Amino acid sequence: MKFHLNDSMNANNIINEVLEKIKPVPAEQQKIQEVAGHIISLVDRAAAGTGLTDVSGMLVGSAARGTWISGEHDLDIFITFPEDTPEQDLKTVGLNVARQVAADADNSEERYAEHPYVHAVFDDFEVDLVPCFRVGSAAQIKSAVDRTPFHNLFILDRINGLEDDVLLLKQFMKGAGVYGSDLRTGGFSGYLAELLVIHYGSFMEVLQAADGWKPGTTIDIMEHGNRQHNDPVVMVDPTDPARNVAAALTLDRFAGFIDRARQYLDSPAVEQFLHNPAAPLSDTEFENITARRGTELLAVVFDKPNVVDDVLYPQLFMLHSSITALLSRHKFSVLNSDVWAGDGEAAVVLEMEVQYLPPVKKHAGPPVWEQSHTGKFKQKYLQNKGLSGVYIENGRYVVDVQRKYTDAADLLRNELHTCRLGRHMGESIKLGFKILQGSELLELDNQGFREFLTGFYHLNEIS
Ligand code: UTP
Ligand code: MN
Ligand code: MN
Repeated sequence: MKFHLNDSMNANNIINEVLEKIKPVPAEQQKIQEVAGHIISLVDRAAAGTGLTDVSGMLVGSAARGTWISGEHDLDIFITFPEDTPEQDLKTVGLNVARQVAADADNSEERYAEHPYVHAVFDDFEVDLVPCFRVGSAAQIKSAVDRTPFHNLFILDRINGLEDDVLLLKQFMKGAGVYGSDLRTGGFSGYLAELLVIHYGSFMEVLQAADGWKPGTTIDIMEHGNRQHNDPVVMVDPTDPARNVAAALTLDRFAGFIDRARQYLDSPAVEQFLHNPAAPLSDTEFENITARRGTELLAVVFDKPNVVDDVLYPQLFMLHSSITALLSRHKFSVLNSDVWAGDGEAAVVLEMEVQYLPPVKKHAGPPVWEQSHTGKFKQKYLQNKGLSGVYIENGRYVVDVQRKYTDAADLLRNELHTCRLGRHMGESIKLGFKILQGSELLELDNQGFREFLTGFYHLNEIS
């Protein structure tokens, strides 16, 4: 790659300009430490009142490591219990302590991961209050969150001087739409970004490495991995040899990051750190694009179950693949498809390559030499409804018969209940669903859905 002095000056300017926006100024750093300190004292006080000794609050996550992006006020505060605490006590007492702390918050709600925890808002700080066990090592965890304090120690030991590089990498990943290990995004977690910077040495060196990544790229900082993983990136957790930190990363987020890294190495620009939200698609734009593409849109729409995204999206993805499999078994063909969830409704959206099929289809019978079966087949289809007689093709008896569904929408209306619906999705769909077609989709009167449509047709990627 050619690299001129001008390029490197330009790259430095870009990096400085971005850092100026995303690096917390001292006043902000002080404020977040104050708020964290205050909440931890609330945890300690509430814990002291429960009778269990040795329960204490601990700041973890990016706020504890100086790797949070300015303006984002996400505080991860763990309520740590001794290892020998009975699991039930951790659940009830942990939740109890979290609730007492949240009584001082502006608002709060209980959320569910492996164990229940509390999400509270103090001023404009989003605080997760998470009970966990203080175990001997991350290989002895009792629940997934018990690893986090070990992550914290590992990163704190090595991150000194690399904080800016982590901030740049996180913001770059946000710009590329690949930041976040939640099951909807399927991208890179903050901890993974930190480990990449520690391993490769800097923001730029991570991008240069990504330029050469292939699926199966493996990094094992502690050289202690003891398990096979079948993931696009394997970052063996330095605190737990059996765990892949990048387990949530999907192939397309992995590829999306490589693509953006290459673009940046070619011609760096501040814009690549910004995430452009998709502009909502207008009625006219919708009519234009569907007419030009000549395809029909179908949407299976139902009430969105009231569960967190990490429960909702896996069920939506499962329903999505079950629906496309159903369509393909019936010979309908899907060109593009995706899932959408709004405030009250959720949908599987399908752009059909083939939505209508003729009333006739082939039905294959036994091979002619399988004597015992042939008589029955010929007998059954002798009086065929006038579509064809019984004929031989590739050694088998074949007959052309009536197709049950000639419209994919009818198939979905009648057979959706045979799809794998997932628990919450199943309950919702049993109560009712609708199939929208073409411009009926615009009835989903929601700004978010129009933005989804822009992304669905990849219109934001046309330049
Ligand atoms: P967060 O999702 O809050 O991430 O999880 P973060 O590292 O603080 O990054 P940002 O700046 O908020 O985006 C808090 C901690 O929980 C553990 C990590 O130790 C993380 O630092 N965690 C979270 C994981 O190990 N894996 C995950 O997928 C998410
Ligand atoms: Mn965080
Ligand atoms: Mn958090």
